[in-house]
Amino acid sequence: MSTKSELLKLLESHRGEYLSGEELASRLGYSRTAVWKAMKSLRQEGYRILAVNNRGYALETDNDILSVEAVKMHLEHRNVFMQVEKEISSTNQYLKKKGIEENLPHGSFVAAEAQTEGKGRRGRTFYSPAGSGLYLSVLMRPKRTAQEGLTLTAAAAVAVCRAVEEVCGVSLGIKWVNDLYLGERKVCGILTEAVTDFETGDIELVVVGIGLNLRMPAGGFPGELSEVAGAILGDDVYVDRNLLTAGIINYLLEEAEKEGIPEAYISRNIVPGRRVRVAYGTRVRSVEAEKILPDGRLLVKNEQGEEEILPCGDVSL
Ligand code: BTN
Repeated sequence: MSTKSELLKLLESHRGEYLSGEELASRLGYSRTAVWKAMKSLRQEGYRILAVNNRGYALETDNDILSVEAVKMHLEHRNVFMQVEKEISSTNQYLKKKGIEENLPHGSFVAAEAQTEGKGRRGRTFYSPAGSGLYLSVLMRPKRTAQEGLTLTAAAAVAVCRAVEEVCGVSLGIKWVNDLYLGERKVCGILTEAVTDFETGDIELVVVGIGLNLRMPAGGFPGELSEVAGAILGDDVYVDRNLLTAGIINYLLEEAEKEGIPEAYISRNIVPGRRVRVAYGTRVRSVEAEKILPDGRLLVKNEQGEEEILPCGDVSL
């Protein structure tokens, strides 16, 4: 671990608390000069480190820069690959490639503050500007068949709801299959991608990608997005994105251990009881959504008044 990374870890674990230069140096086992250099480099990266005569240095409590050091502090399973970037093309794309090439373990993750080529479902792009969101991919090695992929998507939706509720104090609804809503606005999208062994059909790995709109982007959402997308927090509300990232990962690994679709996926769903448009394959139809079945599929009443079960689809409210 570099001096900078060790210093950040120490400051993070004492956020808002002053530690003298001497104490930092002796705890880390480096010279005062080496600590000072590392401090300068953290400041250049945007960390606000307070310095007060006779008291020492403290990381400001409302520091909101994502880092491996800070996420790791709150994680339950730390024996995994972790990476945090300011900007990346797509966390899903990156982790999928690295996961296959380096045989990364279950629970490994990549998080970024911005994506230049964020991927959405059905070949769409996912708007991922800097300064307003959280873009995270987690690699899972489920002992499941492709058939059960839906269970993992449901686990991810519930995990994000639990973490957002705990860290942001905001309760989200799930729009079948895997969008999260605050009121009538989409605030989170989930893209689950599986890599299967083409001989056996078994899942080798799954990458669960989560894109959260925490705040409104500067200048708002572009084009058609402005009609559907929203943000979880007001502009002046502070949340620790590191804590939120760790919370999502912790809950995701916990939910994924459970058998079947989590009860909370069904109870939090905002689709049942509404007339909705569903794009499934090449067709778009208007249906009456009745209920989410225990296996996660959606029971609807079609245009002819007949009941039908949809395994997946893209619902517009
Ligand atoms: C959707 O709503 O269509 C799904 C969006 C999923 C976006 C996330 S952001 C992190 C991860 N990396 C990607 O490129 N996409 C997912």
